[in-house]
Amino acid sequence: MFTSSALSGSKSEQYAQLLAQARALMHGERDRIANAANLSALIYHSLADVNWAGFYFYDGTELVVGPFQGLPACIRIPLSKGVCGAAASTGHSQRIDDVDTFPGHIPCDSASRSELVVPLFAGAELIGVLDLDSSKRARFDTEDQAGMEAIADAWLETLR
Ligand code: SME
Repeated sequence: MFTSSALSGSKSEQYAQLLAQARALMHGERDRIANAANLSALIYHSLADVNWAGFYFYDGTELVVGPFQGLPACIRIPLSKGVCGAAASTGHSQRIDDVDTFPGHIPCDSASRSELVVPLFAGAELIGVLDLDSSKRARFDTEDQAGMEAIADAWLETLR
């Protein structure tokens, strides 16, 4: 049984602890769905003010929802649409303080106010995105972005 310990210390210390927990959860496991499912649960239950945490996977045409925690979400997102599409098509994390100001934002949970999306690439190959939503405006700062990028990298390492 996995027992998550509460995160403590500074924000960067908390992200170091979360990364260690993520690595421990995925240790010895290469199944991407299993690891994505457990990571979504870990993130959702560890971070405050996150109402959706999960993965979209690229199927060669568009992003398709994968394992997540939160309310049911839109299933398919074209690369030209939304915050997720922007992360996938640019290859850069998207940190949006106010989703209402983002042209083409796709509202899956109407409570969502801010969003952080990290693209997942294996070399040049687009694998998908890791998406976090919050009902608080400007919930995610640069430390959250760096923390999630490190966790995304840990997940990508399991594909190698
Ligand atoms: N808001 C996202 C869609 C996915 S949901 O937030 C889970 C977007 O604009 O791409």
